[in-house]
Amino acid sequence: MNTENCPPLLNTSQMTGDLGGGNANKREMENQAFSSLTTSFAVCLTGTKKGCGIGGCGACTVMISTYDPVSKKILHYPANSCLLPICSLHGTAVTTVEGVGSTKTRIHPIQERLAKCHGSQCGFCTPGMVMSMYALLRNHPEPSMEQITAALDGNLCRCTGYRPIIESYKSFAGEQQGRTLVFQGERTMWISPASLRELLELKTKYPKAPVVVGNTSVGLDMKIGGVHHPVILHPDRISELRIVNNTNNGLVIGAACRLAQLRDILMKAVSGLPEEKTKIFCALLQQLRTLAGEQIRSLASLGGHIVSRGSTWDLNPVLAVGNSVLNLTSTGKMQNISVMDLKDSYLPVMEFLSVKFSFAQDDFVSAFRQAERRKNALSIVNSAMRVLFKPGTNVIMDLNILYGGIGSTTVSARKSCQKLVGRQWNEHMLGEACRLVLGEIFLSPSAPGGKVEYRRALLVSFLFKFYLQVLHGLKILVSDFLRQISELTLFMWDRISERPPQDPVGHPIMHQSGVKHATGEAVYCDDMHPIDGELSLAVVKSSKAHAKIVSIDASEAFKVPGVVDVVTASDVPGENGTKNEKAFAEEEVICVGQIICAVVAESDIQAKRGAEKVKIQYEELEPILTIEDAIKHNSYIGKEKKVEKGNIEKGFNSADEIIEGEMHIGGQEHFYLEPNSVLVVPRGEDNEMDVYSSTQYSSNVQELVASALDIQSNKIMCHIKRVGGAFGGKITKPSYFAVIAAVAANKTGRPVRFILERHDDMLIVGNRHPFFGKYKVGFMNDGRIVAADIQAYINAGCTPDESEMVIEFIVLKMDNAYKIPNFRVRGRACKTHLPSNTAFRGFGFPQSGLFAETWVTAVATQTGLPPEQVRDMNMYEGLNVTPFKEQFDATNLRKCWTECLEKSEYYSRKTAAEEFNKQNYWKKKGIAIIPMKFTAGFNKTFYHQAAALVHIYKDGSVLVTHGGVELGQGIHTKMLQVASRELKVPLSYIHLCETSTTTVPNALITAGSVGSETNGKAVQDACQILRKRLEPIIQKNPEGKWEDWIKEAFQESISLSATGYVTYMNWEKEEGHAFPYFIFGVACSEVEIDCLTGDHQNIRTDIVMDACFSINPAVDIGQIEGGFIQGVGLFTMEEIKVSPEGKQYTLGPDTYKIPAVCDIPEQFNVYFLPNTRNPIAIYSSKGMGEAGVFLGSSVFFAIRDAIASVRKERGLPENFTLNSPLTTEQIRMVCADDFTEMIPRDKPGTYKPWDIEVA
Ligand SMILES: Cc1cc2nc3c(=O)[nH]c(=O)nc-3n(C[C@H](O)[C@H](O)[C@H](O)COP(=O)(O)OP(=O)(O)OC[C@H]3O[C@@H](n4cnc5c(N)ncnc54)[C@H](O)[C@@H]3O)c2cc1C
Ligand code: FES
Ligand code: FES
Repeated sequence: MNTENCPPLLNTSQMTGDLGGGNANKREMENQAFSSLTTSFAVCLTGTKKGCGIGGCGACTVMISTYDPVSKKILHYPANSCLLPICSLHGTAVTTVEGVGSTKTRIHPIQERLAKCHGSQCGFCTPGMVMSMYALLRNHPEPSMEQITAALDGNLCRCTGYRPIIESYKSFAGEQQGRTLVFQGERTMWISPASLRELLELKTKYPKAPVVVGNTSVGLDMKIGGVHHPVILHPDRISELRIVNNTNNGLVIGAACRLAQLRDILMKAVSGLPEEKTKIFCALLQQLRTLAGEQIRSLASLGGHIVSRGSTWDLNPVLAVGNSVLNLTSTGKMQNISVMDLKDSYLPVMEFLSVKFSFAQDDFVSAFRQAERRKNALSIVNSAMRVLFKPGTNVIMDLNILYGGIGSTTVSARKSCQKLVGRQWNEHMLGEACRLVLGEIFLSPSAPGGKVEYRRALLVSFLFKFYLQVLHGLKILVSDFLRQISELTLFMWDRISERPPQDPVGHPIMHQSGVKHATGEAVYCDDMHPIDGELSLAVVKSSKAHAKIVSIDASEAFKVPGVVDVVTASDVPGENGTKNEKAFAEEEVICVGQIICAVVAESDIQAKRGAEKVKIQYEELEPILTIEDAIKHNSYIGKEKKVEKGNIEKGFNSADEIIEGEMHIGGQEHFYLEPNSVLVVPRGEDNEMDVYSSTQYSSNVQELVASALDIQSNKIMCHIKRVGGAFGGKITKPSYFAVIAAVAANKTGRPVRFILERHDDMLIVGNRHPFFGKYKVGFMNDGRIVAADIQAYINAGCTPDESEMVIEFIVLKMDNAYKIPNFRVRGRACKTHLPSNTAFRGFGFPQSGLFAETWVTAVATQTGLPPEQVRDMNMYEGLNVTPFKEQFDATNLRKCWTECLEKSEYYSRKTAAEEFNKQNYWKKKGIAIIPMKFTAGFNKTFYHQAAALVHIYKDGSVLVTHGGVELGQGIHTKMLQVASRELKVPLSYIHLCETSTTTVPNALITAGSVGSETNGKAVQDACQILRKRLEPIIQKNPEGKWEDWIKEAFQESISLSATGYVTYMNWEKEEGHAFPYFIFGVACSEVEIDCLTGDHQNIRTDIVMDACFSINPAVDIGQIEGGFIQGVGLFTMEEIKVSPEGKQYTLGPDTYKIPAVCDIPEQFNVYFLPNTRNPIAIYSSKGMGEAGVFLGSSVFFAIRDAIASVRKERGLPENFTLNSPLTTEQIRMVCADDFTEMIPRDKPGTYKPWDIEVA
């Protein structure tokens, strides 16, 4: 194998020895041998990250290089190492990000470009991104843009908004057979036979052993479903299962062929064969383009796909309608079975060798799928349909219709099809076909997965699409809805060139850790090397929403090998959490997921096994889950918050018209790529402890741990090197996780590591608050709003957390950009038995802003005026006061509005969209422009204080520490820029090591968009103090060097260390800036929707932002783009699903969809408003951390615009209600037509729904 450019880090052919031998990590290897590669890598290498553990995020991507016996070539492919059993890798080379390049040797151009193009923020997804690209380049040195975006299908990033990653990679565009292997582990034997005969013999000996190829189905059953297989057979080296044969009437492809290979084979066949022969291949390719991500496609096999037959697997319906035939074998027997006739009973006795794909004849074949995200998301419903006509007529001779996503496996509308044979292909047949299919394909109203009416609607929508395609000879209506990301442009007006090049402030300096992110050398909490004697911790959580704890029985847990102890509330020497929230539940549980106790063990797996064995008995109590329930039971946290201005009654009396309405806005998962992590290390004397945490709030971790251990805070040292994304989700909860680990460390006297699994993190941490709002708005016929009365509720969950502050922000910011003379907002935080909802980027404003824009839009609809006109006439202008009487100047808001209208060419594109809509009935375009007034910071002024400590060492080097945490937002990079400017030394002299409570005490949370501003001022203050001390020495020797001055200062006994401090509010003088400043912005978005499926495509977005003087424009643009895409997720796709018992279903990337590369607008422009200043903040900058999220609502309103055009055309009421997220389901159902009319509806109350609406 040529490994010249591909240094394999793990030559797995040597692994047999490792597994049984005495290497340092023997314990880990034995435990992990049959599970994922990721955990084993974590022992020795830091680069490969675990973001989800179930193949959904791509953070763990590695490159596998393997010999293909058919092509006789080395194949390189990306793979999710979290799903790769180590044993499956025998004879292959695994390249991790460390093998690609490192700062110690040489960084690879992929790593360099990603870092320099600002393609990493928190950096947790970055090694995975590098590996996907690396594998692509190994196979295609000059990939096309389509290949680049496809290669990143399986990689999620929550920070960057993807644009800079694509941009950085854009620059590359255009440029063993042998013995049976047996691995015996603690509980599982892995056998990899070398020949078919051996496989069949083994199957006879172990009839229950699964034949695992890609492990993407079996692996998940084992990881999530708790299934255990004592024997696993891995047939990957058997040549009969890898064949690719061309025959006269089709293709024969081996069952072990990977789906990515299948795609390449089919693409080659399609380009070389006549069109009429390849219809089935085209239908398969259509599904393969969006099926999973490239890593899963590279692992998953054709055989595994067919046999595991998941309900939503996309290829099976196509294979079935295409009359594909499976070649099965058992000892001495061969059998051919059509996919259509495949029954589970065949599989235990027969092994499956290959599939024969027949050429189509005169049939019409189509495949459909609709998912929650356009790529890398399982279908909600999929389908394949085939029709054959009597020669020369439109009379149906044969018809097949199959659906996935309806039953437990693919279902066929066989009876309906039989009845339609002999009918002509016309509208009468269509109507009859829809009725028959809806009658035959039954979907229970309580069906798992919910969305029942939508799924029923998709059955007939797909049928109609097929009808049209056939009718028009597959030529007219099929437009390529999956566009490439054709143009990603970025404009910025700034005056970078006017600044001296040696001054780093205002320059797009690369993220301080950018290169280390890309090489995998950046260390996160879970990457820290194991400490001698370290234990792992797993928690036992409540399975009930509200119940009394009757008993906790941990006796079985103690029997699990490796379990050291079980820790409960009774082990806490001091305070068990805070008065508002307990670390361990005591007598009662108040939500599903509440931590009851913890198991500590020698390894992670043993701790989890132990936790599974703890038995909790409950006495169930009635839970309150929804806002509606909470209102009914008067269950609130805190008092009502109210802001009132003018005279609301008079306002309504003067109005020409009054409208009323409601809106529900669902919550949102933070989905930072790094799950919550903590490592607690007792120092062994004076009760001292080091706590390494992935928190946004170091001093709170310190405070809670000290109080739990009943010791002083000065004994607890909290350290944070960096955090892999946080978005507000790591403010309150990490302190409780630290308490749990610290109590365990205190009890056992050993270090304890607690890394949450993705599903635990999503369950326990809480979300963005679900919102319910009611409005009453009075306005004049010309669109002027004269009065608005708003009532807002949020679902706070079970503890106060930050909810009171969130509802305050909602009330304070409800006016968004509008001056309403008579205005009243009231808000309540509802107490329920859901996990406690918490801070999330934007802190209530995305909800209140969306609601405000909803009632403004309602006024536009009612008056018949264009929405932009109503927005314009009600928008603040010049000097103003908010409803809570804070003064501000709206000049820049107006400027952003005008600039955005112009830059986006709003009016001409609106006309073009209207024209498009006239020409197209089933597809519509929509455009919207949305203004924003956002207040940075907090409404509690003590939050706006910060401190920094700057040391200068005798060699002239500078160490900066401050209270802010590096979450990916680039705060450390900006602080280095500030120190460099103030001390007047190059950036290379300055280092920033970590955030720690030992250097900066009592640091406040890093949040609210003002972290860089407040900490920047503190760093500035400290540097100015130092520079002032040095000034006399510099005066004496003005031509001297920095190093000379420092030496001289030391000799003159001048202190070279200084503390800086800043606060925005002077309480003695009773003056200052309660909310430090306002940020203005405007976004214009355009979309296209598919009325039949609810799919939508983001075509273009233009954002104009009042960023004033950006300290680092690259970092700030990254924040705006990342925030915007997070907002698009919030408002259009991210759905949290909760059962009627209060259990959250959406606990991983498999069920919860955040935006991926395919969701970014094809054209995405961000502009900064030129020549603006912000005298309050450092260097006149503005914090861009949160503002972008709300601007994602421009996509929501663009979709609304498209829907409005559908409804107008169909004569449906135009004052319709939309809730958030505006998913494919909602879009489809609100674009009502004959098909949505004909689907069966179930009367609410007559069945138990699968999920409930908690907003
Ligand atoms: C993150 C993720 C995203 C996904 N997204 C999609 C998607 O969008 N669309 C979609 O259609 N699917 C999707 N899938 C499912 C995926 O297509 C299947 O898991 C995959 O095709 C199974 O193939 P495998 O080789 O990994 O099977 P394995 O897990 O290795 O095996 C699965 C089953 O097949 C049996 N088997 C395998 N080969 C043979 C053989 N030769 N003879 C007899 N039995 C055999 C095994 O015994 C086992 O029971 C996704 C999966 C994951 C993990
Ligand atoms: S950790 Fe493997 S895909 Fe997420
Ligand atoms: S940089 Fe991609 S997840 Fe943070």
